[in-house]
Amino acid sequence: MSAVAKDLTHSREAVELRPNLYWIGAMDPHLRSFDIILKTANGTTYNSYLVRGSEGVAVIDTVKESFQQEFFSRLEGVADYAEIRYIVLNHLEPDHSGALPELMRRAPQAQLYISVRATSMLKALLKPKQGAFDYTPVRDGDQLSLGDRTLRFLHTPFLHWPDTQCTYLVEEKALFSGDVFGCHYCDNRLFNDKVGDFRFSFDYYYAHIMRPFKKYVLAALKQIEPLPLTLVAPAHGPILRDRPRRYVARYRELSSPGFMAEMTEQERSLIIFYMSAYGSTARMAQAIYGGADEVDGVRVSLYDLEGGEVGPFVDLIEQADAIAFGSPTINGDAVKPIWDLLSSLAVINLSDKVGAAFGSYGWSGEAIRMIEDRLRGLKMRVPEGGMRVKLIPTEEELAECREFGRRIAGALVGEGESKGKVIEFEDL
Ligand code: FEO
Repeated sequence: MSAVAKDLTHSREAVELRPNLYWIGAMDPHLRSFDIILKTANGTTYNSYLVRGSEGVAVIDTVKESFQQEFFSRLEGVADYAEIRYIVLNHLEPDHSGALPELMRRAPQAQLYISVRATSMLKALLKPKQGAFDYTPVRDGDQLSLGDRTLRFLHTPFLHWPDTQCTYLVEEKALFSGDVFGCHYCDNRLFNDKVGDFRFSFDYYYAHIMRPFKKYVLAALKQIEPLPLTLVAPAHGPILRDRPRRYVARYRELSSPGFMAEMTEQERSLIIFYMSAYGSTARMAQAIYGGADEVDGVRVSLYDLEGGEVGPFVDLIEQADAIAFGSPTINGDAVKPIWDLLSSLAVINLSDKVGAAFGSYGWSGEAIRMIEDRLRGLKMRVPEGGMRVKLIPTEEELAECREFGRRIAGALVGEGESKGKVIEFEDL
């Protein structure tokens, strides 16, 4: 074992974090995309930890199956399989549970500890390989004594799967946080005060993995922030031993509502995005904007997608209460900038936001229904049937657009019943 790892990609030594506390994970420097959706410019690590107590050894998380030989080599350097009494999985995704079947085979006496929510996943995930795994489901606050050391479990679900939990080593003030506070950043130097600049990776990982679950992040932070912390040991990326609380604070910052144009808590926000080929959808957008703006208590914003970028718009949408999307129908479809924006919204939680669609069309007008379908797929409410206008809107049709905007805005402040046709899921 070594206190400072020199080349963990090639060595198979465990790394001592504290006396009788080791990193026994694996390095995956050549990975370039993770779970398809995440870019990994310099790979990732699968972090696993071994804690030795006076009455037994615990292994916390394993590694991806294809890296298990590396994991077992490190483990064998610091413990015998017969000493392992406890295996804790903070999260059952295969990048952390991949080596579990083989570990259980080598250490059959060990008891597996997982969160209550993980129990239904265990068999589904490991069915091709498992024998009859015995396991103990644990709840928030449950403790596991290793003799002179204690593991305490924190219930932190949906970060980013339902099963996720964190494990706190009380005597060392060390938090094994699973994917939380992790990132895909592979660096032999392993510790946050030694590795290269990984700030981008930390924020990028948060944005793609944790951001849709902000309310659960905030709930977890309520549990984590009061803990004395000298070490945060995530399941991916650098081990946070230098001022670990900075990373907890960064999660707080990233999960808190941002600055919102001086809006009050009582105000509601409607954002209208549009693209227009010949100006007709733009005129509809202006009319919807005008109608919505008549409603007190609703702040309305209007954006032409032609002049914007997806990233900042996703930020705006995350904080809005209602979003309307306007597109002409061209070749039976909505236009590409609309789809670019709509396909980028999976990283935020849209449930219960109000969505609406509108646009002008030449002869069929499919774009409106297609946008509405996507909004429902994103779990948004679509209380108003989409507003469609054939070719150039008349004054009467623009008046309808104003009323359409007024109704959407009115719904945000509890004004009356919607007068438009309500499209329900079953109608599709
Ligand atoms: Fe790193 Fe969600 O697994």
